[in-house]
Amino acid sequence: MDVETIRARLSALPISEIQYLPETYSTNDDAMAWAQAGAPEGVVVIADKQLKGRGRLGRMWVTQPGTSLAFSMIFRPTLEEIEKLSLFSPLGALAVAVALEDLGLSPEIKWPNDVLLSRKKVCGVLAETVWMGSHINGVVLGIGINVATGSVPDSNMLLFPATCVESELGKPVDRLSLLESVLRHLIEWRKQIRTERFIEEWKKRLAFLGEKVTVQKPDGEITGRFQDVDEHGALVLSVEEQYHTIFAGDVKLRPLEE
Ligand code: ATP
Ligand code: BTN
Repeated sequence: MDVETIRARLSALPISEIQYLPETYSTNDDAMAWAQAGAPEGVVVIADKQLKGRGRLGRMWVTQPGTSLAFSMIFRPTLEEIEKLSLFSPLGALAVAVALEDLGLSPEIKWPNDVLLSRKKVCGVLAETVWMGSHINGVVLGIGINVATGSVPDSNMLLFPATCVESELGKPVDRLSLLESVLRHLIEWRKQIRTERFIEEWKKRLAFLGEKVTVQKPDGEITGRFQDVDEHGALVLSVEEQYHTIFAGDVKLRPLEE
């Protein structure tokens, strides 16, 4: 990857600026700093290798050079979009899922922020809020995708099984084509983020919907049926005929092992 090739391959998309870093700590850190310094909507930071890629609450995300995709995009949400800020993480997962479907794959979205192939994690999404004093004035949406085999970390490093796009597809995948496709779908679906259709399209790809699941929270586990999602993307769990609304936060979802 080099910046000129990336710019040429993404030239048809309405992206205000592209920064390519062969190596960085975390593209989300870079994009957050850039957003705080006033960068406009549509700036994209792409890295070939991350030294300190992050998942939620500082958990690590592994990005290997030459085989992974790691990038972050800056959004400047409208006041109406800020009311539904929690939908930016689903936006990232939906864009990746649709891009993988374009390749002929059948991805599922693991609520709230992962994309699975064959029920293994192929992509993680990290949405972070940019604050200006006490006001929200941006979102940085970071996406990491395991593309080729070398991108999948050793299983002893993982809390959930992982895979990569090429293993599932059985043939090579051009990283820049996949990047272009994900960004195109991100930009298109973002226009619909407040619509019912957006929630419907996200919901119909959710893994474990209707199934028994365990939700792991910092204060303990709760088991029930994954009943639905609400208009903010929160998970509705039914436990003994009572409904519990679970917000993404520091929550992990697992199928119930019976
Ligand atoms: P989980 O993936 O355990 O369900 P989560 O979605 O809440 O949890 P995050 O904190 O968002 O997890 O992401 C970090 C986790 O992703 C790490 O704890 C690690 O298990 C996993 N991980 C790190 N790098 C990769 C990778 N390249 N591919 C797949 N999984 C990874
Ligand atoms: C998850 O594991 O579910 C979230 C992982 C998000 C990883 C991406 S890679 C690009 C961006 N930079 C980071 O440090 N994290 C995100």
